[in-house]
Amino acid sequence: MSTVMAGRAIRFYDSTIGKKAVMALTGLVLFGFLIAHMLGNLQIFLGQQTMNHYAETLHGNPPLLWTARIVLLISVLLHIWAWLALARIKHAARPVEYVKRANVQASLGSRTMSFSGPVIAAFVVFHLLNLTTGTINHGGFIPLHAYENLVNNLGFIPFASIYIVCMLLIGTHLSHGIWSMFQSVGFSHPRYTPMIKTFAAVFSWILVGGFVAVPVSIVLGLGK
Ligand code: HEM
Repeated sequence: MSTVMAGRAIRFYDSTIGKKAVMALTGLVLFGFLIAHMLGNLQIFLGQQTMNHYAETLHGNPPLLWTARIVLLISVLLHIWAWLALARIKHAARPVEYVKRANVQASLGSRTMSFSGPVIAAFVVFHLLNLTTGTINHGGFIPLHAYENLVNNLGFIPFASIYIVCMLLIGTHLSHGIWSMFQSVGFSHPRYTPMIKTFAAVFSWILVGGFVAVPVSIVLGLGK
């Protein structure tokens, strides 16, 4: 490799590493939120009172609620910013043969990430308008009555389908994302990489299973 090419490859590495760390860290925050959110949602199986009490408790502590909301919003914005910045750098680096070859394997996964990411972002907007503000609802929206809101909205097949399809996309996004998070922090080894991939996939699909259980159970009659 010529000195010019080596220099370019080093500059590429320097400019991507910080952004990958931002992606990994914000991804971890969002993943943590999803685990807590999925476990919270499962309380629907403990009945109307428990579910509504849980929603009331969350809203009953505004400083905590708003801190969590702000941390989440900043994480989402930084996650998107780092993704866009990395895509720009990758695009600019395309003529460099060495870099191109080094990224061949990642590009298939990142192509699906580029599709699932924006769809998930659109889903979050729909979801907030649906179950947080009730602006888009089916069968009525009662503030703080999470149980009734879930039963009304997710019992409506078009909404249930949106939730289920988007959760499946989240599964693909997470299983690639968790794996690349390990790569970004330098945890990459021929012996452990397949294990990390399996761990990422199993963890992601357990999470998705927990999420999907709610709309599926409601469509099948929970709460009716
Ligand atoms: C089947 C899947 C899901 C169900 C049934 C569900 C259910 C809910 C419910 C009932 C609320 C309102 C809680 C309340 O304010 O009383 C809520 C809020 C929220 N959900 Fe989900 N959710 C799902 C998936 C997701 C996913 C995948 C994300 C993120 C990618 C997400 C992000 C949020 C956010 C950010 C809020 C607003 C929290 C706040 O009030 O600030 N949800 N969800």
